[in-house]
Amino acid sequence: MSKITLSVIKADVGGFVGHSSMHPNLITKAIQILDEHKSKGLLVDFHVSHCGDDLELIMSHRLGDDSEEIHKMAWDLFVECTNVAKELKLYGAGQDLLADAFSGNVKGMGPGCAEMTIEERKSEPVIIFAADKTSPGAWNLPLYKMFADPFNTIGLVIDPSMHEGFTFDVLDIFENKTVKLNSPEDIYDLLCLIGASEHYIIKGIYKKSGEIAAATSTQKLNLMAGRYVGKDDPVMIIRCQSGLPAVGEVLEPFAMPHMVAGWMRGSHWGPLMPVSVEDANPTRFDGPPRVIALGFQITNGTFIGPRDMFADPSYDLARQQTNEVANYIRLHGPFEPQRLPLSDMEYTTLPGVLKKLKDRFK
Ligand code: F6R
Ligand code: MG
Ligand code: MG
Repeated sequence: MSKITLSVIKADVGGFVGHSSMHPNLITKAIQILDEHKSKGLLVDFHVSHCGDDLELIMSHRLGDDSEEIHKMAWDLFVECTNVAKELKLYGAGQDLLADAFSGNVKGMGPGCAEMTIEERKSEPVIIFAADKTSPGAWNLPLYKMFADPFNTIGLVIDPSMHEGFTFDVLDIFENKTVKLNSPEDIYDLLCLIGASEHYIIKGIYKKSGEIAAATSTQKLNLMAGRYVGKDDPVMIIRCQSGLPAVGEVLEPFAMPHMVAGWMRGSHWGPLMPVSVEDANPTRFDGPPRVIALGFQITNGTFIGPRDMFADPSYDLARQQTNEVANYIRLHGPFEPQRLPLSDMEYTTLPGVLKKLKDRFK
């Protein structure tokens, strides 16, 4: 069996209404284009979804990670969908297409991308996560729980095929350097870094044998554009079962709606609400931030699915807690810790205010 590459490439090419959700015409357009590429043989298979205002292209192909052909195809698709968004005057049409023309790889150009190339196992259960109104650091805590925390993943303790632990590849987004840290050996060093989730981001996780288990999107639009142009609403791919965390162990961290950076104007902390695709439409104060989980069996490279994994009453309590936490933290209004620290805000008037007040400072 030859290798198969899973590429999840996403962009916000226009919101409906405001930044809250996706117009169905964009989904229709994306399906039509990907269908053509599938017929031509470029793609093995695909699924199109959305989380809030982000268009999620879930694709399989034989061209490997960072394929120029696949990335260009996704870029051209986003351009075509932007044209649809412009016709409808959708909000922020083309907001994530930062460059005027494609140059080799969507990474660094605005869209987000998580990819992995795998040898398909006898059975290959995979979960694709996508979030809106937050940044890639939002995956740090759940990934740590899935792959390193025995209170979440009992398999680390009682499954001989998981007992040796995993290797985490961590990116310093400011230095653009990565470091590999092993669990359980290095977990204190690992937590020291990834606890600062707006600085160090888990990029991938591997079995100690080197086999890939998880891949995330690590683009930070703020750094790419030289100014802050939006929280980058991340995606990730997780393989499950048979020596990897079980589907239930992969989903379990989201039963606790942890606090993530993003929400209104990309400038607030808020709890991450696990929802079905149908409920992935952040409205209250442009939020709270949402996460969806699409489960697939990958079969000869095709996507059998999706199963909408958070369309499950066992996440009702997490959703209720999200609303309670959101209600509480909203009461802080413009004060930290509802508002992000100055360095992480997407919007700021501070330089202008300081300039205006210069002579009034005594
Ligand atoms: C957050 C987000 C929204 C917008 C907000 C203001 O990532 O997309 O909360 O920041 O709706 O948007 P503008 O400045 O476009 O009016
Ligand atoms: Mg938007
Ligand atoms: Mg978005």
